Amino acid sequence: MILSTDINEAAALLRANEVVAIPTETVYGLAANAYSAEAVSRVYEVKERPKTNPLIVHIGSVDKLAAVASSVSPNAQKLAAHFWPGPLTLLLPKSARISDQVTAHSPFVAVRVPDHPLSLALLQQLEFPLVAPSANRYTSVSPTTAAHVATNLGDRIPLILDGGPCRKGLESTVVGFDADDQPQVYRLGAITLEELQAIIPETALFKQTDTEVSPSPGMAKKHYAPTTPLKVVDQLERFLVEHPPLQSVAYGVLSFGHEKTAMKGLTVYELSAQKNLEEASSRLYDGLYELDAKGLQFIVVEWFENQRLGRTLNDKLKRASSAL
Ligand code: TXA
Ligand code: MG
Repeated sequence: MILSTDINEAAALLRANEVVAIPTETVYGLAANAYSAEAVSRVYEVKERPKTNPLIVHIGSVDKLAAVASSVSPNAQKLAAHFWPGPLTLLLPKSARISDQVTAHSPFVAVRVPDHPLSLALLQQLEFPLVAPSANRYTSVSPTTAAHVATNLGDRIPLILDGGPCRKGLESTVVGFDADDQPQVYRLGAITLEELQAIIPETALFKQTDTEVSPSPGMAKKHYAPTTPLKVVDQLERFLVEHPPLQSVAYGVLSFGHEKTAMKGLTVYELSAQKNLEEASSRLYDGLYELDAKGLQFIVVEWFENQRLGRTLNDKLKRASSAL
């Protein structure tokens, strides 16, 4: 595996049906030619992902949408115009060019225009869109640096296009539309519910009923999990008092501007000293990778206030800490 910043090298491999890791503003993606059955099946293999979990298609600009989607509703157009390039993935009726292999037999394709200069330049040079799931093995934490990708998949892919640390650090928000064209959030991500509602007030979180099959398998409970158990608590200060740092239990803390002296003697990763949610979002997965490498007994973190990016962060923490 080589690290490179040369998009021509990446393009040549992609044209040869190889799988290449690419940077985006959210997390690194494991990219392949969306029109090639061979390339797409290689992505599933490398990621060890079940074939029932569909892939996001990445395009270089909104005018490429007609190639991958058979129709774009008024509200989908509105959101695309507002948020692309950016961390919004839209579920749209698929075109004939997009295979069942890409969508896992769904009539809908997930599509977005990523906001990263290297990947945009790469997509604009290619004759085909790219499928790109997050560049981690199935159920492990999404990578936000080239080094994370190398840890996860370095032995399985020929090239990582190194675009530096991902600016957002959380996956894209996945949005579908109900029969009345009202947006439904299937996966919380870097774009918040509040930001979507500012454009279309009717936007709601998709509520899965018991009888329904999950339309977005990424909502599976266990996801993004580090190997070290993650404990999410209501009050970190209180947890620290009840589990004094000087005792023999070695644990780590993902801190969000918490008082330093109370954590003395513990392994601390600071998400944001200034309690800034954007900064914490961009650092969460790096914190999980870093603490996970330290052989700790567990990692403790406090729930965020459940709004804006705090809602997304809580969703990721819930999945990362799920016992299932
Ligand atoms: O930010 C991101 O979205 C990153 C970067 C690389 O673009 N990609 C990413 O891909 O997170 P992945 O495969 O790890 O997550 C894709 C999510 C999953 O929850 C998947 O189930 C859902 O999107 N998805 C993909 N295609 C779908 C479809 N046709 N219908 C419903 N859900 C779909
Ligand atoms: Mg993923």
